[in-house]
Amino acid sequence: LQKYQPYRTAFHFQPIKNWMNDPNGPLFYKGYYHLFYQYNPYGAVWGNIVWGHAVSTDLIHWIYLPAVLIPDQWYDIKGIWSGSATFLSKDNPVLLYTGWSNASTQVQNMAVAANASDPLLRSWSKILENPILVATAGMNSSNFRDPTTGWISLDGLWRILIGSKIDKNGTGLALLYKSHDFVNWELDHPLHSVANTGMWECPDFYPVLINEKKGLDTSANGPLVKHVLKASLDDKKHDYYAVGTYDSNANIFIPENKMIDVGIGLRYDYGKYYASKTFYDDNKQRRILWGWVNESDNVAADIAKGWSSVQGLPRKVWVDDSNPHGIKQWPIEEIDDLRHAKHSKKNLYLKQGSIFKLQAKRATQLDIEVIFDLPSHEQQELVVNNGMAQIEAQISCTKVGAFEKGVYGPFGLYVLATDDLQERTSIFFYLEHSSKGWRTLVCSDQSRSTLLPDVDKTVYGSFVPITKGEDFLSLRVIVDHSIIETFAQGGKVCITSRAYPIRVNDDSAHLYLFNHGNQTIQVQSIVVWEMSNVVFDSY
Ligand code: FRU
Repeated sequence: LQKYQPYRTAFHFQPIKNWMNDPNGPLFYKGYYHLFYQYNPYGAVWGNIVWGHAVSTDLIHWIYLPAVLIPDQWYDIKGIWSGSATFLSKDNPVLLYTGWSNASTQVQNMAVAANASDPLLRSWSKILENPILVATAGMNSSNFRDPTTGWISLDGLWRILIGSKIDKNGTGLALLYKSHDFVNWELDHPLHSVANTGMWECPDFYPVLINEKKGLDTSANGPLVKHVLKASLDDKKHDYYAVGTYDSNANIFIPENKMIDVGIGLRYDYGKYYASKTFYDDNKQRRILWGWVNESDNVAADIAKGWSSVQGLPRKVWVDDSNPHGIKQWPIEEIDDLRHAKHSKKNLYLKQGSIFKLQAKRATQLDIEVIFDLPSHEQQELVVNNGMAQIEAQISCTKVGAFEKGVYGPFGLYVLATDDLQERTSIFFYLEHSSKGWRTLVCSDQSRSTLLPDVDKTVYGSFVPITKGEDFLSLRVIVDHSIIETFAQGGKVCITSRAYPIRVNDDSAHLYLFNHGNQTIQVQSIVVWEMSNVVFDSY
């Protein structure tokens, strides 16, 4: 392991060392939050996958525990792949996971809590009936994985989804299975499929209340309930979702808008964010989303630093009618407890070309909330955030970030910046004119984030739906050494990015506001909090 670790995070979840990918089976049990995750105990690259395990009472301070599931059976000897947790009853959590078998097929297995009185759930038993689900005739056993949390449908039977793909035409789909005892499963039908979306990894399916922040347990349904279906697209490496209705009679999912269906419509995050999973937090009646954020540096750098990947901060998710057919996401409130020194300013005017340095002692660990006046009250085009719009947004952000000055923007923040701005990551808004009015973009520009050459510096971006009556633009940006999480317009659009500056350290990092557009931008308020370090324990 490298001694000097400038890119390790201070308050994001990551193991002490080695490779991590998907979050698995998050749950809350007897006072503890549990996080399992895809983990390689032997190195900083993918392989030898087990389920790592950590527990926490607040989703922030974690205790590392030994791996719970390791390859030791013919049906999972090559790896313990992704899966989910389900409560069969209050004190009976079980895990479903995909095993990579000795024959390199993907099969579904189950483990039960070996000692349900242990709140740390340290020991799990694989059941004798494993594998409980295998690909049947006509299915490809190499595209058959990642079982969801189970729910009980109207007929009283358990249901789960498994991610898959139809080989001959590349249709991605979520296969629906049913069971009366959670052990014996029968194929029902595909819950949902979308042409040309490729393999659906890590499907997730959960109910949300209409216009309420409160979360719901996975079996809930009814007139005030909608459902979110998410798939992680293997081809694109992004998490796509659709809000729709779950007809629990016919057991089908009907998206609100076919134009923004799973895999062709909205994304949880327009940066790096993959293989995510939600769970219902009974402790605070909310639904929480975890997502895997991988590195943008190279394999050699990962091996040298001894680790690869972090988990994004846990996010609360809910539906929101001001975001057409979308959800909102916001860092869980527990994060706010890490805020200490606070610097705030009100009513700043950013003239064309201005760069304004903000106070902050350790600008490698910050939580920033900034509200701008919406600079143009002329009509806003409500962009349907489908695949085409996403490509356009990415192109516009890339162009603007690197070369252009506009009318309204780009304006926003430089984070992880050196004082000569040679290194800086820019998080900004930009208003683009279209025939239907202004379109608001939010972008994360990594092109100058580091002087290191061998880093993926792709610029990320998305259109932001601005609805009638909204007369401001807001950003919350959380900086933690090498990860930057951006929540625009109250969590309607999220962008997670990675940066590896070489001239920025805890004392020399700076934070700036800037405006390159030729119109003055008003900052209504900006609040910058320095964020504490979290110390993780090992059990
Ligand atoms: C997603 C994924 C899953 C699989 C796991 C293996 O990142 O490919 O489909 O179960 O990772 O580690």
